Amino acid sequence: MIEVKHLTKRFGDFAAVNDISFHVERGELFALLGPNGAGKSTTIKMLTTLLRPSEGSLKLDGHDVVKEQDATRKSFGIVFQDPSLDNDLTAYENMELHAVMYNVPPKEVAPRIKELLTLVELWDRRKSLVRTFSGGMKRRLEIARGLLHHPKVLFLDEPTLGLDAQTRNLLWNYVGNLAKEKEMTILFTTHYLEEAEANANKIAIIDHGKLLTIGTAKELEEQTKTDTLEQAYLALTGREIRDEEVDPHEAWKARHRSRNMR
Ligand SMILES: Nc1ncnc2c1ncn2[C@@H]1O[C@H](COP(=O)(O)OP(=O)(O)O)[C@@H](O)[C@H]1O
Ligand SMILES: [Mg+2]
Repeated sequence: MIEVKHLTKRFGDFAAVNDISFHVERGELFALLGPNGAGKSTTIKMLTTLLRPSEGSLKLDGHDVVKEQDATRKSFGIVFQDPSLDNDLTAYENMELHAVMYNVPPKEVAPRIKELLTLVELWDRRKSLVRTFSGGMKRRLEIARGLLHHPKVLFLDEPTLGLDAQTRNLLWNYVGNLAKEKEMTILFTTHYLEEAEANANKIAIIDHGKLLTIGTAKELEEQTKTDTLEQAYLALTGREIRDEEVDPHEAWKARHRSRNMR
């Protein structure tokens, strides 16, 4: 359903994504994991036609993502890292607008909006303007909206950031059922490794724009001789804390050193 071959994105002479290849089967829940600045969002932006690759080829549902942008856009839905809701509309209106834009069958619009707003515990607030919502409420509404139409491929870029454990569980159950029932293919990123461990069929770990490894949580644990996905992840990406502004060259040297010391 998704095919990525030798994908590279350069900003100036900095490669944010550096020769990445992987593929995702239909109905699979695929997790893209990596520290801040690894290149996860940049990869998703290229797959969703928001950024043009510097090199490589991308296919989504059989369409060439660069050459067949319109066809590609009809095949996927996305929940962004940053909210893109209309503040001057109510929660319900935001949902309705999205349903119209994505041609949700008219008969299904009202029941699906109710189901999803109930799921994210915003049904009681459906008539409130989004500008009155807290960050967490906006995030929940954003996810509900992303799940309103049932695209073949759904991209979720850190969908659960900042949500409490209960809400995260509810959402992943819902998303897991969608993948099963509708054979929806889902590619997601998260900083909560237990979410990837519990929900992903396959996990890719990227760092500094490079794909380090790909496999099931079990396979990654075997590969690194560790017992949990978190340990495997740390063994692969190192233990130092990253932030968005990290100098890639210094980070590489630090990683190289810590690897050689082990
Ligand atoms: N438009 C841009 N111009 C320059 N550098 C960018 C741009 N977008 C992202 N980057 C850089 O590319 C790297 C990867 O970013 P991103 O894909 O957002 O990482 P992630 O989502 O894994 O945290 C980071 O170092 C980031 O600063
Ligand atoms: Mg990101």
